[in-house]
Amino acid sequence: MEDKKTIFSGVQSSGFLTLGNYIGALRNWAKLQYDYNCLFSVVDLHSITVRQVPAELKRRALEILKLYIASGIDPEKNILFFQSHVPQHAELAWVLGCYTYMGELSRMTQFKDKSTRHADNINSGLFTYPILMAADILLYQTDLVPVGSDQKQHLELARDIAIRFNGIYGDVFTVPEPYIGEVGARVMSLQDPTKKMSKSDENPNSYIAMLDDTDTIIRKIKRAVTDSEGEIVFREGKDGINNLLTIYGAVTDKTIPEVEKEFSGRGYGEFKAAVGEAVADCLRPVRQRFDELSKNKDYVEKTYKEGAKRAEYLAAKTLRKVYKKIGFIER
Ligand code: TRP
Repeated sequence: MEDKKTIFSGVQSSGFLTLGNYIGALRNWAKLQYDYNCLFSVVDLHSITVRQVPAELKRRALEILKLYIASGIDPEKNILFFQSHVPQHAELAWVLGCYTYMGELSRMTQFKDKSTRHADNINSGLFTYPILMAADILLYQTDLVPVGSDQKQHLELARDIAIRFNGIYGDVFTVPEPYIGEVGARVMSLQDPTKKMSKSDENPNSYIAMLDDTDTIIRKIKRAVTDSEGEIVFREGKDGINNLLTIYGAVTDKTIPEVEKEFSGRGYGEFKAAVGEAVADCLRPVRQRFDELSKNKDYVEKTYKEGAKRAEYLAAKTLRKVYKKIGFIER
């Protein structure tokens, strides 16, 4: 690989990707490919901590990979792959699990959260999930990890594990840092704008899927929850309008004050129509590229097979080093 810093990130294959994923992650990842060595994985091993329907899991995993490419992440410049295709992720996760404390895992807020939401299936994978995430990152000697605020705690744990391991065995892992770049806008639910827009939300009106068509997008934005004040300004307490301002700003590359000015004195109906059109315009080319990729199965297959091969080469190198340091007999 070229002498640039390494970036790793991934998306779970457990639902549709939303406008939030596009604005907050994928679109920004596409900009990193010139300055970094990037690996972007569809982290399918992670997604089975919650029960999945096999046929759907398969469809979604492939969909996400295609959305990476459709968002402008070039498979020649980046390594795109399915986590389950590179066995070293699970292998390193086992090792790292032996260097992680129960107490550390118990403190993870996402675990506490998910185990309340899936109280009927608090499996040990849900508990050890941050270890697998640490393995994802450390396998590639990752320097920087672009993650949302909900993953900061997991990244912090990955750092702690790396430092601990290095402390015992010498410099084995690069200690990763969060990538703080251009702040990706945080897109909230259209139905409950105090919550993040989520691909696993039960109410499809709460999110814009990256593959929603123009009419659906316009309809969903029209139905977005706002307030009764009738004023288009960004202000505390106006969560719905704040969210629409943020979205419009992000998809048109305008600042919030610019957008406020553009719509000052106008009604919510008119504003929502403009937001809907702008979002549709932004996602249309992505959907078109996605459709083209869907017609080109061979290319997609070649891409992820090649990606897995390149990822495995790097992962195997780190794992060999780890096994050697621990004292396993070389094969
Ligand atoms: N846990 C992340 C999420 O749910 C996904 C993920 C898995 C990830 N492994 C990763 C993100 C490694 C960054 C780096 O969003």
